[in-house]
Amino acid sequence: MSRVAIVTGGTRGIGRAICERLRDERGFTVVANYAGNDDAARKFTDETGIPTIKFDVGDYDAVQDACQKVAGEHGLVDVVVNNAGITRDGTLLKMSYEDWDAVMRTNLGGCFNMAKATFAGMKERGWGRIVNIGSINGQAGQYGQVNYAAAKSGIHGFTKALAQEGARFGITVNAIAPGYIDTDMVAAVPEPVLEKIVAKIPVGRLGKASEIARGVSFLCSEHAEFVTGSTMSINGGQHMY
Ligand code: CAA
Repeated sequence: MSRVAIVTGGTRGIGRAICERLRDERGFTVVANYAGNDDAARKFTDETGIPTIKFDVGDYDAVQDACQKVAGEHGLVDVVVNNAGITRDGTLLKMSYEDWDAVMRTNLGGCFNMAKATFAGMKERGWGRIVNIGSINGQAGQYGQVNYAAAKSGIHGFTKALAQEGARFGITVNAIAPGYIDTDMVAAVPEPVLEKIVAKIPVGRLGKASEIARGVSFLCSEHAEFVTGSTMSINGGQHMY
């Protein structure tokens, strides 16, 4: 029986690349979560054959229900990739409480909710993989992103703490910190601002979603048994940490 993986925010951008690679390279049964964009989800399934499940990762009860549903339909969840993330950029003076809360709830709360729904099962079976998608901006900070940087930085702390709890049960917990990747999220950054950011990337370009997916696939593999609590930076040299 193949391992069962859920990738949150899995129908577009980095998440989509992760879904395809985990299926093609690792042979996992993959289910992609998404929150709202039904058209993108349909297109994703049409093109990849990978099923989707709609729920809000920030909603604790919805996550519990969804993970049970996936277990019933595909088997107990062995691998979780916490990739779902949103931005609500703005300087502190312009940022509303709602913008703060939505980002914390989705980006960081989602990791807690998904781990709560799946960790006990992984422990019982003596094997599990959790990969959390952090960000260069959680490591280095970013003007206009106190919410996003705090949530992504929180993901890195969450990863190190949960890795210590999972180690004796065969569960590894790692993070990837992507730099600026060629996705819709980065395309939303105003052109002149993005130009300045790209100018600071030593490799001289945006990253590709597939370059993040390769890292996730390695961390989920049998070759990464001894890798836990780590953060893999994939950022073209923009921040060396
Ligand atoms: N450092 C210092 N000052 C800066 C600055 C920086 N990095 N960026 C902008 N400023 C300054 C500007 O020069 C400007 O100063 P003046 O008024 O003196 O000219 C002032 O701050 C206001 O800047 P803006 O005109 O840009 O202000 P705004 O309110 O219109 O927009 C913003 C603010 C929304 C934060 C906008 O600058 C922005 O979108 N920045 C990009 C944020 C970003 O990188 N987001 C990443 C999204 S992708 C992602 O998050 C994925 C990932 O994990 C990497």
